[in-house]
Amino acid sequence: MAHSLHDDDGVSNPSANLHLHDVVERAIAAQPSRRAMLKSGLGIAAVPFLGGLAACGGGDDPAPAATPAERMMGFTAVPTSSTDSVVVPAGYIATPFLPWGEPMTSTSPAWKTDATGTAAEQEQQIGDNHDGMAFFGFNATGDGFGERSDEGLLVMNHEYINPEYFYAPGSDATDWLLPFTLEKARKGQAAHGVSVAHVRRAANGSWSHVKTSPYNRRIHGNTPMTLQGPAAGSAALRTAADPAGTEVLGTLNNCGNGRTPWGTYLTCEENFNGYFGNTDPVGRLLSARENRYGVGTNAGGGLGNGFGYRWHTVDPRFDINANPNEPNRFGWIVEIDPFAPASKPVKRTALGRFKHENAELVVGTDGKVVVYMGCDERNEYIYKFVSTGTFDAANPTSLANRNLLADGKLYVARFDAGAVTGDQTGTGEWIELTHDLNGLSVANGFADQAEVLTFARQAGDRVGATMMDRPEWVAANPVKRGEVYITLTNNNRRGTTTASSNAVDGTTVAGAARPPVDEANPRASNVWGHIVRWNETGAQASAMTFAWDIFVLAGLPSITGARAPSANVSADNLFNSPDGLAFDSFGRLWIQTDGNYGNTGDFAGMGNNQMLVGDPVTKEVRRFLVGPSGCEVTGITWTPDRKTMFVNIQHPGEIGNHPNAPRNAVTTAVLTDNEIARTPLAFSQWPNTGVRPRASTVVVRRSDGGVIAG
Ligand code: FEO
Ligand code: CA
Ligand code: CA
Repeated sequence: MAHSLHDDDGVSNPSANLHLHDVVERAIAAQPSRRAMLKSGLGIAAVPFLGGLAACGGGDDPAPAATPAERMMGFTAVPTSSTDSVVVPAGYIATPFLPWGEPMTSTSPAWKTDATGTAAEQEQQIGDNHDGMAFFGFNATGDGFGERSDEGLLVMNHEYINPEYFYAPGSDATDWLLPFTLEKARKGQAAHGVSVAHVRRAANGSWSHVKTSPYNRRIHGNTPMTLQGPAAGSAALRTAADPAGTEVLGTLNNCGNGRTPWGTYLTCEENFNGYFGNTDPVGRLLSARENRYGVGTNAGGGLGNGFGYRWHTVDPRFDINANPNEPNRFGWIVEIDPFAPASKPVKRTALGRFKHENAELVVGTDGKVVVYMGCDERNEYIYKFVSTGTFDAANPTSLANRNLLADGKLYVARFDAGAVTGDQTGTGEWIELTHDLNGLSVANGFADQAEVLTFARQAGDRVGATMMDRPEWVAANPVKRGEVYITLTNNNRRGTTTASSNAVDGTTVAGAARPPVDEANPRASNVWGHIVRWNETGAQASAMTFAWDIFVLAGLPSITGARAPSANVSADNLFNSPDGLAFDSFGRLWIQTDGNYGNTGDFAGMGNNQMLVGDPVTKEVRRFLVGPSGCEVTGITWTPDRKTMFVNIQHPGEIGNHPNAPRNAVTTAVLTDNEIARTPLAFSQWPNTGVRPRASTVVVRRSDGGVIAG
């Protein structure tokens, strides 16, 4: 494939010195007591390459220019904000990039500012509500996966749409979505999924989208994809349109993401249930399996309309009355090869079906590929997949490596109190979800492994997994092998009423249980969320046991007692609802929030959603970025040199309980969706003044070209 090489600023090929510098700093971060030894060059074999870091160099050595040691928190914290702008520390630049509607190629149609664009146009434009994201640098020859920092493929998820901004008003004064047509459903489906954008850094550090590149690609809600693995072809995945149960159209509610060392992207299907409606909500009783996944009900209770997308009214694929098995074909992890634009995405059923947040992949020292995954709903579970095969590090893109997610075992976590109850530390166990083990039998309703995987929530119920406070992103510490973190975003359905648990027979309706507090979820009505971490036994990702503790309990220091935050929360770093979570390669823990931005009451002083950095060793948490009005901050990735950080701003302009919410001049009530659809500039105009709000990536750089946060 023809491809112009671009290596224009001398920063795309970090030297061996830089890599070793990183190695040393990461090792120090993991074990500060080793700092003196590592800084002196003792204890590692690579002393000759340490350059300025080897303080004890021999007398004949030329004195190399000292490389300033990279710091964990090399930035000044920013204050909270409720303004309609992105706030970053002094010395940083934040530039919007690839907003919703941006043409994918040089021949794609322009986005229409009045939202009258068609479904066909949307299929050729960046999708809506950006979420998980990964930068894949090109190799030196520019024709595949590599380590370049100046040019690569930026791959991102599009989770959902905000209909009030997404659709131009129709003919009905009271309901802007009427008449709702198949064309409108198709436009919505086209804005979901994944974008692959070829991007390039210029000599001045700015980024552009290479619109002439053949790598640019949209994958959306009607893109054909393969169902692979133990559940592929099983009875529950067959439909009239696909009697073999092996090919599904589209991926939906693409939330967090993952990436593999063989250069593929993992997109995670989260709230898929919300797209399915029930055109016979009175006559058709929902099954336990539908109830357990929230299929066929309304988000806020009631009957039949899902989350209100209305697709089922015009597209029978989303009517469970007509196609009861179609929801079983969503809720999976999808593997995409961004370097093969004609490749068919693959839904990897071995990783289980639930409301997937992200997929954090780790290769253990035993070569096993482990994928950590949270199921985001109140009182749901944390899972991990362990591959059957082992990773061939010498041939990273080998065919064998590329099939590692095809076959393996799925486990679910149980968090125990450990030796002392009440100290917010404990132990845990990974429980295998394999047919005919641990009660996952025919007698208990699981016909085979396909059913265990397709109804993984019920399998978790059966084996006694621990109900968590909404598991969101998982992140593995790159400088401390075996240490893994998870955001538990919030849970107002714990410890507040008569206790109940997800029933062992799998009959509990999604989100209906009201468990008591427990050791790992220690606060009743946990509206602020927390971050739990664990260390796998023997620092081995595939281990069956672990020890855990709590990294941070978000909240208000003015609240004391059982609902108090942890000691690393202060007036200077208030936040709620940690959600996006990722380590950079240096070992900083980046925490993104999707919470309450009312800035009052339990959330006073927290402002808009934000992004903070956590130090895994000291537990310090420091605010780096604040997003614009009504947004959440989610999705983050770096160039390999860490001099560019891409961050996604999702749903700017979602009104919620924002302190600057626009109001009806007559009634003074906060504008309804029908009103904001007709006055789309009334609240947020981010990122372009005079234009309706649009989800967008933000490119974050240091104005001096240095390493982010270093
Ligand atoms: Fe898509 Fe749980 O956030
Ligand atoms: Ca304990
Ligand atoms: Ca999220």
